[in-house]
Amino acid sequence: MNIPCLKYLILSMRIDILTILPDLLHSPFSDSIMKRAQTKGHLELKIHNIRDYSTNKHNKVDDYQYGGGAGMVMSIEPIAAIIEKLKAEREYEEIIFMTPDGEILEQSICNDLSLKGNIMILCGHYKGVDERIREHYITKEISIGSYVLSGGELGAAVLVDSVVRLIPGVLNDETSALTDSFQDGLLSPPVYTRPPEYNGMKVPEVLLSGDFGKIDKWREEKALERTKTRRPDLLD
Ligand code: ADE
Repeated sequence: MNIPCLKYLILSMRIDILTILPDLLHSPFSDSIMKRAQTKGHLELKIHNIRDYSTNKHNKVDDYQYGGGAGMVMSIEPIAAIIEKLKAEREYEEIIFMTPDGEILEQSICNDLSLKGNIMILCGHYKGVDERIREHYITKEISIGSYVLSGGELGAAVLVDSVVRLIPGVLNDETSALTDSFQDGLLSPPVYTRPPEYNGMKVPEVLLSGDFGKIDKWREEKALERTKTRRPDLLD
């Protein structure tokens, strides 16, 4: 039997983002960890302009809502066309819609999504998207918080960043994602670096002691203390 050697098995993900404002999404992925994830082959990111799939002579992607009311609605045709095209090319494990009325993004959702192969993300705009897209294509709806953004692009950037950094090999030191706030249900403890004293402000003695048992215990206590005061809901 041929067992692939883990050393040569690169874990990777393909993410397709559907948007009417592609320029908004280039910068968050062209620097630092997100850039490295792509150059190292962990992330294949494709940004698609929904307008390219409009059959309207003015490249329109929205229309008035049936029943009247303020605000335009994103039309079904160009979005369905691009989703159908992508689905014919490969299987997608999730087709996510970024919307303020979705499930609030939590670390557990990021952890689950980081194990997927191919995902698609649709960014909403205007008054929303024709409900038939949500009913027929969308498998998951995500909000990045209880406030309304001008569109789903910034939410999509937050989602992709929080997921991609968890793919094994993306961060230099893999354990640093495991010690993030929220991974153990607690906020992170305070951290310090040199100098040991600055204008009378001292680094806690225990961190300089070299006693790693004591240091671990101190960090656990501080993480719990911080969670109790700032996010008691996490302890429920
Ligand atoms: N689009 C508009 N507001 C949003 C939010 N809070 N989360 C995700 N997508 C959005």
